[in-house]
Amino acid sequence: MRLRTVTGLGVSGVLVLATLAFAQSANEEVSFPEAYRDGVHYATVTRGNIREEIFTSPEAVAAAREGRTFPDGTVIMMEDYRGDELHRYIIMEKRAQWTSVSEAGAWLFREFAPDRSPNGSEDGSRCASCHQSQAANDFVFTTRQMREHN
Ligand code: HEC
Repeated sequence: MRLRTVTGLGVSGVLVLATLAFAQSANEEVSFPEAYRDGVHYATVTRGNIREEIFTSPEAVAAAREGRTFPDGTVIMMEDYRGDELHRYIIMEKRAQWTSVSEAGAWLFREFAPDRSPNGSEDGSRCASCHQSQAANDFVFTTRQMREHN
């Protein structure tokens, strides 16, 4: 019986399955970049009680220095502190396959709690709309800090 159902899918069923698999890869989630501290800590931004520590890969820093757009797979991580306490992690990650679902180039914007669990209620649209102002810099505000980091 089960086998018959599967065979019964026919060509259109297979196409539907293939389309679903594709949609899933386009939506593949941003996962917490556990090794981000092995990258480059290129900026600290303070504003009143807020302190942001920002990290990315050496490849991303090189791209900023050479005036290129960021490489596919770039992750930029921001630790967001209130006073001495870690408030949240915010992350942007660039993947070519996300161009169709992103509201800012090929980047997805996500938030993680201090215990590194994803904040599912942050879909990144508010983040993307503010980062839109940096479209000419591949949606990143702190490219100058990357360039000047030694
Ligand atoms: C109101 C505007 C605004 C919103 C909304 C916003 N950002 Fe940003 N973001 C900035 C600015 C400005 C900076 C540069 C650092 C600074 O001045 O704090 C920045 C920096 C960053 C950086 C470091 C890379 C860079 O662009 O310089 C990351 C990562 C980031 N934001 C992710 C996010 C995520 C994820 C969200 C949503 C949860 C978000 N941002 C929402 C304005 C915004």
